[in-house]
Amino acid sequence: MTRTDLSNVQVAKDYTGLCGLVADRIANLVQTKPNAVLGLATGSTPLGVYSALVRRHREEGLDFSRVTCFNLDEYYPMSPKSLHSYRQFMAMNLFDYINCPNWFVPDGLRRSASEIEQDCLEYEARIADAGGIDLQLLGIGRTGHVGFNEPGSAPDSRTRLVTLAEVTRQDAAPSFGGIDNVPRQAVSMGIGTIMDAREIVMMATGAGKAAIVRAAWTEDPTDHIPATWVRRHPNVHLRLDESAASLLLEADA
Ligand code: GLP
Repeated sequence: MTRTDLSNVQVAKDYTGLCGLVADRIANLVQTKPNAVLGLATGSTPLGVYSALVRRHREEGLDFSRVTCFNLDEYYPMSPKSLHSYRQFMAMNLFDYINCPNWFVPDGLRRSASEIEQDCLEYEARIADAGGIDLQLLGIGRTGHVGFNEPGSAPDSRTRLVTLAEVTRQDAAPSFGGIDNVPRQAVSMGIGTIMDAREIVMMATGAGKAAIVRAAWTEDPTDHIPATWVRRHPNVHLRLDESAASLLLEADA
């Protein structure tokens, strides 16, 4: 059996250490390229990264005024004003506290299929016009999804309307006050969109992610585990805390 390539994996002792590593990389990019284009993720995983960036903006003057940010996804249907929307999530956890005027989240407002398709093309065009994504931050869902690219997503998929897996909806149920309130669809950048980024940082924390992290980094690339495609990116970095890394390190032992 071939040994797993762990050269692009770094393991921090705990969640704080993990977020410090990732925030340092983002801060370094923004300092060396003030007009950097960032691809950002939601979920609980990157929260500590966002608070570290807010702190660095406040205390060290880390400047986001020329940075452009694109988020991966948004629930559908979803009002941008809803507290459940990823737009509000990003405002409340990052953009209300830093000086970044240019940030975009896919539109979750209910509209016709052709309008959604047109808006997805425009989202892709806007990313291209900004110069493409320099660094894409990713979490990983228990299904192996990245963004909302659930199992079955093709490696060349682009921004589009997708259907959420039941596991994903169950994971989201507590924050929606029950699974019946969780939308069944989302608008998500595709795997192809993500793979176009010049650098990808995928992060995972906690024992609950250990199995999918191991699968993502050891299984042959497959549509069944979308994160396996990400591992093929020439400049991808996996950043974990010890509990998320435990089964991957065991597989390599
Ligand atoms: C959601 C997001 C993903 C995120 C995943 C994991 O499904 N669309 O981008 O990676 O949740 O969430 P968490 O970080 O809360 O485990």
